[in-house]
Amino acid sequence: MAKGIMYIDGQRVPFDGEPNVLSVIRKAGIEMPTFCYYSDLSVYGACRMCVVEDERGKIDSSCSMEPRDGLSIRTNTARLLKHRRMILELMLASHNCNCAICEKSGQCHLQELALQFGVRRVRFADNREVAAFDDSSPAVVRDPSKCILCGDCVRVCEESIGMGIIDFAKRGYNMQVTPAFGRKLSETDCISCGQCSAVCPTGAITVYNQIGAAWRAIHDPNKRVVVQIAPAVRVALGEAFGLGHGQNVLYQMVSALKMMGVDEVYDTIFGADLTTIEESNEFLGRVQAGGPFPMFTSCCPAWVKYLENKNPKYLKNISSCKSPMEMFGALVKDRYAAKDAEDGKTTFHIAIMPCTAKKMEAARPQFRNADGKPDVDLVLTTQEVIDMIKESGIQLGELEYESPDLPFGLGSGSAMIYGASGGVAEAVARHCLPDKSKNTLRTLEFSPLRGNEAVREATLQVGELEIKVAVVHGLINAQKLLRDIEEGKAFYHLIEVMTCVGGCVGGAGQPYGRKAVKEERRQGLYQADKSAPFKRAEYNPGAVTLLNGMDEHEKHRLLHVSYVEE
Ligand code: SF4
Ligand code: SF4
Ligand code: SF4
Ligand code: FES
Repeated sequence: MAKGIMYIDGQRVPFDGEPNVLSVIRKAGIEMPTFCYYSDLSVYGACRMCVVEDERGKIDSSCSMEPRDGLSIRTNTARLLKHRRMILELMLASHNCNCAICEKSGQCHLQELALQFGVRRVRFADNREVAAFDDSSPAVVRDPSKCILCGDCVRVCEESIGMGIIDFAKRGYNMQVTPAFGRKLSETDCISCGQCSAVCPTGAITVYNQIGAAWRAIHDPNKRVVVQIAPAVRVALGEAFGLGHGQNVLYQMVSALKMMGVDEVYDTIFGADLTTIEESNEFLGRVQAGGPFPMFTSCCPAWVKYLENKNPKYLKNISSCKSPMEMFGALVKDRYAAKDAEDGKTTFHIAIMPCTAKKMEAARPQFRNADGKPDVDLVLTTQEVIDMIKESGIQLGELEYESPDLPFGLGSGSAMIYGASGGVAEAVARHCLPDKSKNTLRTLEFSPLRGNEAVREATLQVGELEIKVAVVHGLINAQKLLRDIEEGKAFYHLIEVMTCVGGCVGGAGQPYGRKAVKEERRQGLYQADKSAPFKRAEYNPGAVTLLNGMDEHEKHRLLHVSYVEE
């Protein structure tokens, strides 16, 4: 790792292991403009917005320059500013600039930088061939007329998710970013993780927007709108209202939703406690029966979709438990059926999730009741709810606190941490380990179940057996782990898989945040766990009473699912 002193705009800046000059510039407090640099992905060096000038007048991209001792650079010379303005003008020239009605307006990086660098006119005509608009995916929408060819989506889909669904096609002026053979996303193996939309700096890939459907339901007097809020949402939504990264704003969210016209607001952590109890029982059953191992967690729909599309032989290894969202949805629809018959209203269930893949999950045929109606009628992402709150003119920070409604508004601390990588495995461990003392919680807190490494392993003693648990995030890492298992290099009893890096705190439905922001969200969840009145699923009185009142048939109907084709 290189170490030394650089001179940036005349300031002496030490560096120690930063991977490139761009990182050293940012460390010095200068926010360099970039389109194609993400610290988690390989360096592409194509947009040339991050250029710097050295003492000899040589201009180069700082994201692909190695820091050198004694290197002296300038970041804002007249030549550099002119260069950046020209790049922006060329990008705008080959871009559909209907900004006022664009999905990304107000959050578009191109719009932001054009404003910052004073680009007010475009002198060049746009004569490109443009591929068709694609709204075939349940999670994301592609508008190729807005693409600036930065390649961020290509690299995230390949390097972080391991799917390689989109790539560059054609050459020169007609270059495009598209699924192979110009297919629609629905005709590919896309798993709806939405990470391509999270990194796309423009409106070329955006989350499928269902705000209109949500308002229609809320304003319909014949509908009872019942909402659930996932754990990771509460530690990210406040960022859009200046409330600080990782701050838990659940109670302000409940107030805002009620002011907007939602009838009842519940907490997905109730569903997560049901998942923990059912999943732990299933796991202990497999331990007694001697397999099949590994048992995979089932909360992440993009992971389930990956196995269906690419590795179906492992579908039998997925836990039969529905995700917390779907357990909750089935329960709400079941318990409100009598109320609907009584007052003539229709219960409309909205799930607020950090995730675009949940939109795909809600639309799956497995999650429909006997009448063919979905258990979750609509999934809104954190960002869509932010937009709705802003549209309502509500100042989130000014609101009185309001608790979620009962009986489904309460959950354990272990349910809260479902939103971070390792959280589901830790919740199951808390439930399965026979020692219920604080010491167990402390041991788990400092075990490898927590952390940021892509693959983490822990060994737990359950009765006579040493249980080997793995936690993996970033789908490409799960694919590598599967290969190790197949080659006999690794063995685990239980594996938690989250498609997104960091788990759901880094989901594509969240406001975009760099690594440090995701870390603050993660810490926010662990803090919420610490202050929760009870830490284990089995201490949730509502969940336990509910489960005790169900026979096996009802549990199977409401809480379990099979993805294996009969
Ligand atoms: S949604 Fe995920 S899998 Fe599909 S194209 Fe985007 S990044 Fe790739
Ligand atoms: S779709 Fe978005 S992320 Fe992908 S290359 Fe185009 S502008 Fe970049
Ligand atoms: S890790 Fe979480 S946010 Fe990402 S796809 Fe899976 S469930 Fe969705
Ligand atoms: S951010 Fe450096 S070339 Fe794009």
